[in-house]
Amino acid sequence: MKYAILNGKIVNRTEAKVDIEDRGYQFGDGVYEVIRVYNGKMFTAKEHMERFAKSSDSIGIKLPYNREQLTKMLEDLIEKNSLKLGIVYMQITRGVAPRNHAFPSAVAPCLTAYTKELPIPVNLLQTGVKTILTEDIRWLRCDIKSLNLLGNILAKQKAAEEGCYEAIQHRGQEVTEGSSSNIFIVKDGVVITHESNNLILKGITKDVILRACAGHHIRVEERTFTLNELSQADEVFLSSTTSEVTPIVAIDGKTVGDGQPGPVTRKLQALFKQEIEAQCGVL
Ligand SMILES: Cc1ncc(COP(=O)(O)O)c(C=O)c1O
Repeated sequence: MKYAILNGKIVNRTEAKVDIEDRGYQFGDGVYEVIRVYNGKMFTAKEHMERFAKSSDSIGIKLPYNREQLTKMLEDLIEKNSLKLGIVYMQITRGVAPRNHAFPSAVAPCLTAYTKELPIPVNLLQTGVKTILTEDIRWLRCDIKSLNLLGNILAKQKAAEEGCYEAIQHRGQEVTEGSSSNIFIVKDGVVITHESNNLILKGITKDVILRACAGHHIRVEERTFTLNELSQADEVFLSSTTSEVTPIVAIDGKTVGDGQPGPVTRKLQALFKQEIEAQCGVL
């Protein structure tokens, strides 16, 4: 990556530095987005811009650019970096001010963005991944895509230490979401996933999947489900911008179904690919 965005301007990556008193650095006082790029085009850009605006609004950061300006800025960055397949990362913090918990009175938000090459995880999409279960220890505004990711990274680290790809979080008996993904189960042909409330991030990949289900007569229940339902599921999969629709084949060492990605998951993978191709061209 040769170029990055710092406060609305494309600069050399080496010049993109922030102050040690940036509130994002000191408090995690900011929000972010990760957007997939296929064939040099952003996938579901509009939805990501909307969520970014909503997240920043919910913590009282006023975006210095409108959604069209942000989109254009990121498109320019993708072009400058000749990115074909990868991600754009964008974050905004409340800005630079002497350390004090309460919001500073006059501060300019700090917007940064960069791109990264990232292949489609073809092998994982085919074979599926192993996961662990872990108690969800995060705060009660998981709908905000906050820079504060300590709960998420501790969960992911636990999974990594057990040789697993993802940690499935639960509050007591109720499954919430992965450390960086949404979780779905399939039972008797019905796709079940946690409703989008304050306990999970409203995944953009999740919404693409739910729209695909609606368009193809696949029944959906958006509701909380329990650890018991998870262990009895015919199929389990996760969704995220970078992991797309990834089958889950084991949970805490216990095989899901027959240990192979199931037919509904496969179908949704195919429908998801169709949507990518409709928006970004043939992969
Ligand atoms: C906690 C959490 N849930 C869900 C998701 C999936 O969201 P999306 O599909 O918008 O990438 C993510 C993505 O990073 C996440 O961090």
